[in-house]
Amino acid sequence: MANIKYFLGEEIPLEMHKVRMVQRLDLVPIERRLQAIEEAGNNTFLLYNKDIYLDMLTDSGVNAMSDKQTAAMLVVDDSYAGSATFTRLKDKIYEIFDKKYFLPVHQGRACENLLSMFFVKKGMYVPMNYHFTTTKAHIMVNGGEVLELFKPEALEPVSTHPFKGNIDLDQLQKLIDKEGAEKIAFIRIEAGTNLIGGQPVAMENYLATSKIARKYNIPFIIDASLWADNLHFIKTREEKYKNLSTREITKIMSESADIVYFSARKLGHVRGGGIITNNEDIFKKLLELLPLYEGFSTYGGMSTREMEAMVVGLDETMDEEMINQGPIFIKYMVGELVKLGIPVITPPGGLGVHLNAMEFLSHIPQEQYRAGSLGSALYITSGVRGMERGTISEEREADGSDHLAAVELLRLALPRRVFTLSQVKYTIDRLAWLYENRKLIGGLEFYEEPKVLRFFFGKLKPTSNWQEKLVAKFKADFGDSL
Ligand SMILES: Cc1ncc(COP(=O)(O)O)c(C=O)c1O
Repeated sequence: MANIKYFLGEEIPLEMHKVRMVQRLDLVPIERRLQAIEEAGNNTFLLYNKDIYLDMLTDSGVNAMSDKQTAAMLVVDDSYAGSATFTRLKDKIYEIFDKKYFLPVHQGRACENLLSMFFVKKGMYVPMNYHFTTTKAHIMVNGGEVLELFKPEALEPVSTHPFKGNIDLDQLQKLIDKEGAEKIAFIRIEAGTNLIGGQPVAMENYLATSKIARKYNIPFIIDASLWADNLHFIKTREEKYKNLSTREITKIMSESADIVYFSARKLGHVRGGGIITNNEDIFKKLLELLPLYEGFSTYGGMSTREMEAMVVGLDETMDEEMINQGPIFIKYMVGELVKLGIPVITPPGGLGVHLNAMEFLSHIPQEQYRAGSLGSALYITSGVRGMERGTISEEREADGSDHLAAVELLRLALPRRVFTLSQVKYTIDRLAWLYENRKLIGGLEFYEEPKVLRFFFGKLKPTSNWQEKLVAKFKADFGDSL
């Protein structure tokens, strides 16, 4: 945020943009919300937009685009092969990341598919700071095992540690000593951990990991999907880098890795993704897979319009006033929730506000999905859609038992430049009411459960009639309020 001090002392997350295009929203009555969540099998992924007031499911593909991005979409060079649009994108990526080879793909998980197919063989390990759902699924499908090497503070819900996303270097060294470098497919750092509160990684940690990876000749891969947030935190929380520009920091980070990949639904504010490297050999081998799974090498499953908007979006990501817009809103909302005593992950990270459902709903057995229950309850009482990031987002163990997640989070994503402060305040108000009435909230159980990535399509039902009771209390307290 620009350097602005307030007379009244309140730290207000001020926008350095104005809204010039809007979308009408509705807040349907609570009776309809109850019905809608039932129809969706208590899975917020299965709700329809018409029933949602504030969509805080994700920032993926729903960050606001700028006027310049939208304008760029009108001047594409549209062709299957060799478009000038692709050249512009490749050149922009080289300018920003200092890596000359670029493989375009349709979205982030497509990078994970190609990289896992190429690097992971049966019995190999992939150490990382923390897994992401689709990353883990791709590695497992190829016979590999994900090893999460995080430090204890990563899972501490209340903390002041500025970089809870760091990989534990001692554990990494021990793994290499024990298993040997040949058994490690690659080392992966997620630049900002999606599943444990959008917590960032320090530049120091990237550089130290890189040193180890280079010493043992193990490929080092950065998942840069949440890089914009991480860039903001390195600049604001890591003393050594505070005077460097975002472009300078990006280059140092990029240089530390052999491969950088990203979901452009997050990084670049469009719908696409890509893998970048300076290693010609790896590039050529991955290139062989590209037309099979994505598309020709100059579009990789993306529309040229999106690619043209990505050129601008990546350039805008180097603007501190743009990248801070998510983190400053998140910081504000977390600060207000802490004041109200509502359990929330601290310090504030990127991507969104992460409610600590483990504590919020400590009266519900974890096997009844605390984060999922909180997601249903919040939707019913506010029309706000969050995303479960807890046990439902895990895969079952081989013996069929639930793998209880280390953390139960309800993520309220704050896509950049989308919500206003009053909408954030409305959400805080409804959360305050819900926290007071939390004992009314009960658990959930599956009645339809896909084998893989069950959180996308699985359906659940309440373990009792707690949702009706919650609605009755809401009506008693708020009367005919929506
Ligand atoms: C860290 C991280 N990696 C990979 C992905 C997958 O990207 P996509 O949804 O574009 O497939 C995501 C998506 O949320 C993510 O957050």
